[in-house]
Amino acid sequence: MKGIVLAGGNGTRLHPVTIATSKQLLPIYDKPMIYYPVSVLMLAGIRDILIISTPASLPAIQELFGDGSQFGLNISYTPQPEPRGIAEAFTLGAGYLAGEECALILGDNLFHGAGFHDLLHAARTDLSGCVLFGYPVIDPQRYGIGEVDDEGRLISIEEKPLQPRSDNAITGLYFYPPDVVELARGLRPSARGELEITDINRHYLAEGRARLVGLGRGFTWLDAGTHQSLLEASQYVQVLENRQGVRVACLEEIALRMGFIDADQCYDRGIQMRHSPYGRYVMEVARAMAPALASR
Ligand code: G1P
Repeated sequence: MKGIVLAGGNGTRLHPVTIATSKQLLPIYDKPMIYYPVSVLMLAGIRDILIISTPASLPAIQELFGDGSQFGLNISYTPQPEPRGIAEAFTLGAGYLAGEECALILGDNLFHGAGFHDLLHAARTDLSGCVLFGYPVIDPQRYGIGEVDDEGRLISIEEKPLQPRSDNAITGLYFYPPDVVELARGLRPSARGELEITDINRHYLAEGRARLVGLGRGFTWLDAGTHQSLLEASQYVQVLENRQGVRVACLEEIALRMGFIDADQCYDRGIQMRHSPYGRYVMEVARAMAPALASR
């Protein structure tokens, strides 16, 4: 399975903050926003990741991640010249995906919760159709909304409905079988001029091939597309990290735990960033795994 992070858009809802920089590089507390979606793909066990962004933003994102080898990843890059919608990720990424299954995640989505690793792995096992992840919200008009019946089966999907049939938002994380590329090629732009991910999902639903996995209480899903949600996401991460002393979406730590890198590689990354608390945390994580590093 390959992963795509769609870090597109011009971030106009965040102007003037995003006039000269990419939204997905803004900090959520102690790390760039894009670390959070990348961490989700890593937790799902994905090591081949394509990052799609605007031609203006791509060089800085590339400078941040390089080829991804510091995290044991293979990261590739593709520009999205115009913001033509989320579903364009599949046509832009068609050559990259080369007929493999795919996880798509939006570059401003933050997921956090106990057991997420296991939940992602369970979701990966049956990809006869799409797997969507639902989360209850108080403002369902802002999202793609999934309605489920009494047995938990998905029965309708609507994009930003004026009269939502449920409060179950469809989050910006999606798993697809290889035929998603063909489906995306057949899409027409919506009334707002975009290739809608919701139209893809409705196709799968019509064929009885769409599943919604509920992320319930005890789980956090935030998007950081407005000034307020950006600050709230930072505050959430700050409270958790400062209370527990563990870090959310620390890519070196996840890479180490997933076996993508070894403790030496992790420690070296920490040393490079030792002037920041994040860097010292990465060193500690490596030392906890390989105490002999303390003598280095
Ligand atoms: C997009 C999708 C929507 C989904 C949301 C999650 O909305 O169209 O279905 O619920 O992402 O973040 P947009 O960011 O385009 O408003």
